[in-house]
Amino acid sequence: MKIFKDKHILQKEILKTKGTSFVPTMGGLHKGHISLIKQSKKSKFKTLVSIFVNPKQFNKKSDFRSYPRNTKKDIKLLKKLKIDYLYIPTFKDIYGFRPKNKVFLDKSSKKLCGKFRKGHFKGVLDVVNRFIEIIKPKYIYLGKKDYQQLYLIKKHIEKQKIKSKVIECKTIRENNGIACSSRNFNLNKNQMKIASNIYNYLSNLKKKIKKNYNLFKIDKIKKDLISLGANKIDYLENYNIKSFKKIKKPNQKFNLFFAYYIKKTRLIDNI
Ligand code: PAF
Repeated sequence: MKIFKDKHILQKEILKTKGTSFVPTMGGLHKGHISLIKQSKKSKFKTLVSIFVNPKQFNKKSDFRSYPRNTKKDIKLLKKLKIDYLYIPTFKDIYGFRPKNKVFLDKSSKKLCGKFRKGHFKGVLDVVNRFIEIIKPKYIYLGKKDYQQLYLIKKHIEKQKIKSKVIECKTIRENNGIACSSRNFNLNKNQMKIASNIYNYLSNLKKKIKKNYNLFKIDKIKKDLISLGANKIDYLENYNIKSFKKIKKPNQKFNLFFAYYIKKTRLIDNI
């Protein structure tokens, strides 16, 4: 595994290859990332992982500061996984140039997380657009847990006619049901239990509302989540994942999207 901190040196190396399969991360690697990397390694291209905690996608400084970081442990894991390249850029390496493509922010960026985290998706797309310009990957691997992010990155790539292909990867879960996330590192044992109880409650609810949509009573569900230990609920909405629109008729196929807090930790998922 070769480690790069400078985009020019990285680009020189990539030029020698047939192309790269890219797994962008903010570190705090977990089973979800490992699954993305394993899929990337099955492609015929070299696997490139990036670790960059992008300050521009955090709407609160405190959230940026408390985001889990463990680069030493991450490097060890990536070596074990035998990836080809690791890119750990500085802020200047990413933001010190003017990208050719403008960021395209689809209007659906205003929904769900976009409503509650002002500027978040603009920051995500800005950094992803820069990574794409530096790396020009053949494939980009993204998880469905962050479905809105995945959808918006695909829209940007489509609109700007970028040649990279997004590979959508299924959500990986802990044994207790909760979606793997770097933010889980900030939960203690008791808080993990709360997250797991909330996941079980909502996945049972989803089964029930598929049969009888009248059971989808937002206020009652929110109350139940609070009594299970959630401290604040940002949203709880049923979306068709193809159109990425809120469902109008209960007989449509949907995923239940939710975001909530346990103390200061914000968790999102869709089931
Ligand atoms: O999902 C993430 O970890 C980040 O949002 C990403 C895609 C690496 C951009 O910073």
